[in-house]
Amino acid sequence: MLEKIKETAAYIQSRISDMPKTAIILGTGLGELVNHIENQTVISYEEIPNFPVSTVEGHSGKLIFGQLGNKRIMAMQGRFHFYEGYCMQQVTFPVRVMKALGISTLFVSNAAGGMNPNFRIGDIMIITDHINLFPEHPLRGKNYKELGDRFPEMSEAYSHRLINDALKVAEEHNIRVMQGVYVGTQGPTFETPAEYKYFHIIGGDAVGMSTVPEVIVARHGGMEVFGVSVITDLGVEGVVEKVSHEEVQQAAALAQPNMTLIMKELINKFEE
Ligand code: HPA
Repeated sequence: MLEKIKETAAYIQSRISDMPKTAIILGTGLGELVNHIENQTVISYEEIPNFPVSTVEGHSGKLIFGQLGNKRIMAMQGRFHFYEGYCMQQVTFPVRVMKALGISTLFVSNAAGGMNPNFRIGDIMIITDHINLFPEHPLRGKNYKELGDRFPEMSEAYSHRLINDALKVAEEHNIRVMQGVYVGTQGPTFETPAEYKYFHIIGGDAVGMSTVPEVIVARHGGMEVFGVSVITDLGVEGVVEKVSHEEVQQAAALAQPNMTLIMKELINKFEE
């Protein structure tokens, strides 16, 4: 694994002279952020040695390097989901490579179903914490000291200072933001009403099929993390309705302008 990470990082380094310290994984609802990145260098996943290739509709695979406001950033457009059949090492491989490239802060976004009764479709939820319900752990197996500790500490998986910065940005722009706990599950089924209820009872505010593996690996590598969900459907008792991939995409598109604004301003504002 170490050799592969090094090989991939070396390839990217050969293409990029001014390496950023900040990376962002663009989930559903944040794809448009790419249009705000200036002086882009784009590397498609097919070109990158050892990189998996993404398969899901609505997710294209490329790394975009460039300038977002006052920061150099690396954006990952198209992530790898466990439900696609990738193993956890593949799902999280790009985060390992980011670390090897010297990335110290990771921003992540996703679409999620809301269980908190105060949530509305189209809401933005700043992730304050997560519950990992994936059936396999990305750190299972041999631990490489070079990559992080055997038993990583997770008391502040999502950086408090970045959450506070994001809340300030939202307030300045009068954008309604919620905060909550993200439950990460494997999918690909959406939840039954009983499952939504259960996830709420155990402390979840929103549920989705991504993010948690990447965040675990980022924290293993000592990166600071900020995460945000767009609430695309509701799993609130009594108001659970049918949900489809298309509806998720549509609801995410509605929230996109505000999501983009918050991320862009936050990245501009925070101290690297
Ligand atoms: N459940 C799981 N994943 C999701 C959902 C959901 O309701 N909405 C968007 N991604």
